[in-house]
Amino acid sequence: MIGSRFSAAAETYDRHAQPQLALAKAVVSMLPKTAPEEILELGPGTGQLTRLLLERFPNVPIDAVDVAEMMIAHSRKTFAAYPQINWMVGDAQTFWNGRRYPLIASSAALHWAADLSATFENVFQSLEPGGIFSLGMMLQGTLKELHQLRREISPEKTPGITLPTYSEILEALKSAGFRLKRRQHAEEKILYGDAKAFLRAIHEQGVTGGKVSSGNAPLTRGELSRLVVDYQEEFASDGGVYATYETAAFLLTK
Ligand SMILES: C[S@@+](CC[C@H](N)C(=O)[O-])C[C@H]1O[C@@H](n2cnc3c(N)ncnc32)[C@H](O)[C@@H]1O
Repeated sequence: MIGSRFSAAAETYDRHAQPQLALAKAVVSMLPKTAPEEILELGPGTGQLTRLLLERFPNVPIDAVDVAEMMIAHSRKTFAAYPQINWMVGDAQTFWNGRRYPLIASSAALHWAADLSATFENVFQSLEPGGIFSLGMMLQGTLKELHQLRREISPEKTPGITLPTYSEILEALKSAGFRLKRRQHAEEKILYGDAKAFLRAIHEQGVTGGKVSSGNAPLTRGELSRLVVDYQEEFASDGGVYATYETAAFLLTK
């Protein structure tokens, strides 16, 4: 399900992805200077983190694994000039190709995992002893203004599942066996031209479905109009509206 939602967003995602880009930059800023022999990237999507990895480690082979087939097809095309990237369809929760990598990187992807603990345990298997796992995650405070309004407007349609909290992620990483070297936890307000532009932007990022906002049932036309009007009034800022993004970046070892 997640695969098809992100596949649909593949063509539009990059135009509206500033919070994800900031997170990918935080993930890369934590990496050691020495180039690894190879990299496994989980959930590359349209390749924002991939691009930064290529800049940092130009000739290092990258195995890039995404659960959405269309994302892989899209990125294989846009990165055709980089034969060192091996694009593969696979789920981070179960992916295993019999190899252990010195560096595994992932940004703005694994918070979607159906089972976070199982996913981290699986990632741990693919990391070589002493290897580095550099991870960026979107957290529960992301789009909290939208969630608050949705609860007020249509409480019966509130999504049952939410993004993980900072402490849930730390707990799951530790119980998978990772050792924490560095971490960075941030809350940022992003400005949009108006409420409609905001809703369009998050839709195009592929984050409006499932866990983040529209999980069980779509809003009616009336509910959606009220959402736009109320958002514009309650979360106005600097001539537009704001939305909060809560993120965390972790540098871990095995
Ligand atoms: C918001 S995009 C992020 C892309 C990119 N890493 C970035 O930094 O902008 C999330 C991507 O993660 C992928 N994804 C989500 N869950 C995944 C999983 N369990 N295994 C592999 N890929 C996954 C989605 O298909 C999507 O392409």
